[in-house]
Amino acid sequence: MRFSSLTVLLAPLAFTFTLAKPTGNDKIPTPGGHRPSSSVYEITAGGSLSILGAAVHVLAADGNIVHVSTASVGGQVPTKLTGDSSRALQTNGWIAYAWWLNPGLAPISSFATTWVVPPAPETYHGQTIFLFNGIQPNASSAILQPVLQYGPSNAGGNASWAVAIWFVYSTGNAFFTTPVPVDPGATLEATITLIASNGTTFDYNAQFSNVPGTSMNVTGSRELTFAVETLEAYGVSSISDYPVGSTVFEGIQLGLVDDATPSVVWSHEDDAADGVLLAVDRDGANDARMTITY
Ligand SMILES: *[C@@H]1O[C@H](CO)[C@@H](O)[C@H](O)[C@H]1NC(C)=O
Ligand SMILES: *[C@@H]1O[C@H](CO)[C@@H](O)[C@H](O)[C@H]1NC(C)=O
Ligand SMILES: *[C@@H]1O[C@H](CO)[C@@H](O)[C@H](O)[C@H]1NC(C)=O
Ligand SMILES: *[C@@H]1O[C@H](CO)[C@@H](O)[C@H](O)[C@H]1NC(C)=O
Repeated sequence: MRFSSLTVLLAPLAFTFTLAKPTGNDKIPTPGGHRPSSSVYEITAGGSLSILGAAVHVLAADGNIVHVSTASVGGQVPTKLTGDSSRALQTNGWIAYAWWLNPGLAPISSFATTWVVPPAPETYHGQTIFLFNGIQPNASSAILQPVLQYGPSNAGGNASWAVAIWFVYSTGNAFFTTPVPVDPGATLEATITLIASNGTTFDYNAQFSNVPGTSMNVTGSRELTFAVETLEAYGVSSISDYPVGSTVFEGIQLGLVDDATPSVVWSHEDDAADGVLLAVDRDGANDARMTITY
């Protein structure tokens, strides 16, 4: 599927939660929806993913194949339900997010975002909070994302913050680097970089450039075109389940391979009915900034 018009471009807002529902007893989410743990793979330090058609090879740091998995092409990552005013507290999926779709310009070469690890939520009962920037191909069939996590995911986790790089197919398999604990107040510098392309397939690196042990290469990807800044959550039942205060995604830099600065206007969606707001403070591809207030 490709976005063929502005109307279709808005379609992410209408996706249902089909993919985000627990599968069997697997109630633990990835930052791409709930998955059975048998579909989620850890990539150890220095490892990478190599997509070869329908196969995905998990490589160790020495380049040896340690697992052969499958790519999947259908579905969508779990954005939230259509924003009708009567909806109840959004508990699963993308709660507040901003996005820009590359409208056929040169491929995105880099996408960087800085934010500070928030204080812990006031209340914790096993909910999961994900904060990330990420990029998807036009078909939204996968997402590459440097993720800050609180609470449980398929990568583990508890009542503390940790960071990991995730590559998640919208259905099927998901891959993550070993989570690294981070403390409230720490500044995170997340970068996604195009490292090579032959015009058909694209090789990317994603990392927290200031947190050692959080780097993942994905080679053989489709072109990633849809850039997002997202708050995603599962199992939230009150506003106090979110971090206290606000999260500022800033220093947002989005570059293209031809070095042109694209004219970027960040579209956005939030959950104002439940008190979660996203404001774009500064638009553009150069030092953009947005604030999520809980
Ligand atoms: C990712 O690819 C780059 C460029 O090929 C390489 O220098 C780097 O070592 C790789 N990193 C990982 C974690 O595989
Ligand atoms: C992605 O979709 C947009 C909107 O339809 C289009 O302009 C762009 O060329 C597409 N990019 C790719 C790589 O297919
Ligand atoms: C919570 O997870 C962190 C790593 O993310 C770990 O260091 C810590 O020991 C864990 N705490 C508990 C109570 O399991
Ligand atoms: C790019 O590389 C992929 C994977 O090796 C290959 O399938 C494709 O044909 C190549 N495209 C071009 C234009 O060389």
